[in-house]
Amino acid sequence: MNTFVTLSSGQRMPMVGLGTWKSAPGQVKQAVLTALECGYRHIDCAAAYGNEQEVGEALALWVGPGKILPREEVFLTSKLWNTKHDPEDVEEACRTSLAHLGLSYLDLYLMHWPMAFQRGKEVMPRREDGSICYSDTHYRDTWRAMESLIDKGLVKAIGMSNFNARQTDDIISIARHKPVVNQVQLITVQLVSSKLWNVILICLKQISLAVCVTAYSPLGSGDRPWASPDEPSLLEDPRLGAITQTYHKTPAQVILRWHIQRGVVCIPKSVTPSRIQQNLKVFDFSLSQEDMKLIESFNRSQRFIVPSVERDGKRVWRDAG
Ligand code: A2P
Repeated sequence: MNTFVTLSSGQRMPMVGLGTWKSAPGQVKQAVLTALECGYRHIDCAAAYGNEQEVGEALALWVGPGKILPREEVFLTSKLWNTKHDPEDVEEACRTSLAHLGLSYLDLYLMHWPMAFQRGKEVMPRREDGSICYSDTHYRDTWRAMESLIDKGLVKAIGMSNFNARQTDDIISIARHKPVVNQVQLITVQLVSSKLWNVILICLKQISLAVCVTAYSPLGSGDRPWASPDEPSLLEDPRLGAITQTYHKTPAQVILRWHIQRGVVCIPKSVTPSRIQQNLKVFDFSLSQEDMKLIESFNRSQRFIVPSVERDGKRVWRDAG
């Protein structure tokens, strides 16, 4: 299978990229350098990860005129944070990410979440009681502002992240520049909600619309700060044992291969050189249909990031429609 997907924009996006969410300052530069050295040509970033400047330091050594790789050989993504949804803030936010990364354009710019937070410098603006301060800016207005970034040559393509099926359709219906990617939390199927599964099916089936699905947290994000110690670890799931032996691959490689065989792009995060290297070695084997189905049967229909609000004393899905 090809190691690239062709997006509806015509761009070729490598099917495995390096994730940088949770990669700590002091570690992420080396992680990006290791990734580029061992063949990664796709790095996934976001303003909200707080480490774009350090990613930029690594890119400055490797990518661009007179460097090891021409700019057009590396696919670079960043994301617009929720406090920058006001159409007046969008271009400045994009330019800030570009400056931090040391780039003149992004290959892909995603709206990180459908809902907007109160404008300002606070990444997570909160009231005194700790609740998040949302804003009423609609994602459609934000989308239109993002479209003008393509017109200005600041980004090659735009897309979204964490959008549900209805929101995905909504964007498609109003878009002048169609979304090329929806990046969602897709931890194999161990933790995929049925709602989220619908989004994926919509994206995968609507070939004519060609919204590519990218999986964040493909390995289960065991390093997320709020992970519960009692939660079963995806990579240590004993059911993976026989499969890893059959193919002589690690659990992470089997899981990544499962995504790729379904046409889903993966952005595993690692700051460990041997793992960064290992996570790219997933194109020299194929899982059988039976093994694909077995992994699919791990589904527990759960998500660990669900944007929600308190309403009448209950936590409900915050659906910014
Ligand atoms: P580390 O960064 O210390 O190498 P996800 O991409 O789903 O968010 O998962 C990231 C987590 O998975 C991190 O804790 C990362 O650890 C770990 N990880 C990444 N690649 C591998 C691998 N090949 N084997 C085991 N753990 C891995």
